[in-house]
Amino acid sequence: MPSTALYHMPSNLPSSEPAAPKRDAQFVRIAETQREPLSFFIDGHEVTALQGDTLLTAVLMQQRRLRDSEFSGAPRAGFCLIGACQDCWMRTEEGIRLRACSTLVTQGMRVLTRFAETASVVASASASAAAAAANGATP
Ligand code: FES
Repeated sequence: MPSTALYHMPSNLPSSEPAAPKRDAQFVRIAETQREPLSFFIDGHEVTALQGDTLLTAVLMQQRRLRDSEFSGAPRAGFCLIGACQDCWMRTEEGIRLRACSTLVTQGMRVLTRFAETASVVASASASAAAAAANGATP
């Protein structure tokens, strides 16, 4: 008889209610679900991780890729997971390079997966916010 256990795997957040895993995530959390949650930003979108997650784990709990290759545009999701292969480099919105498999995600961290495309979106949003603030608009 087939098991339905796959549909009752724990979510990435502490909860008494089982939740279906995200269908578009590369990783599914099955242990240590009671660590404290934190929020961070992927391409300007706020998402949730748990204290102690690496950036690679935190991002791949949300989606199937860490970034697009700057050379081919192909999706990259890390390979070795131990800091040796250089496949997991990500950038913060400030342009700082981070090795996602050996960097812990932190509260409020802001990372980009499509650097050229997203950097222009973030710059545009920042310029709009600055213009609105200069005109006395409130968010
Ligand atoms: S996944 Fe290989 S260095 Fe991070």
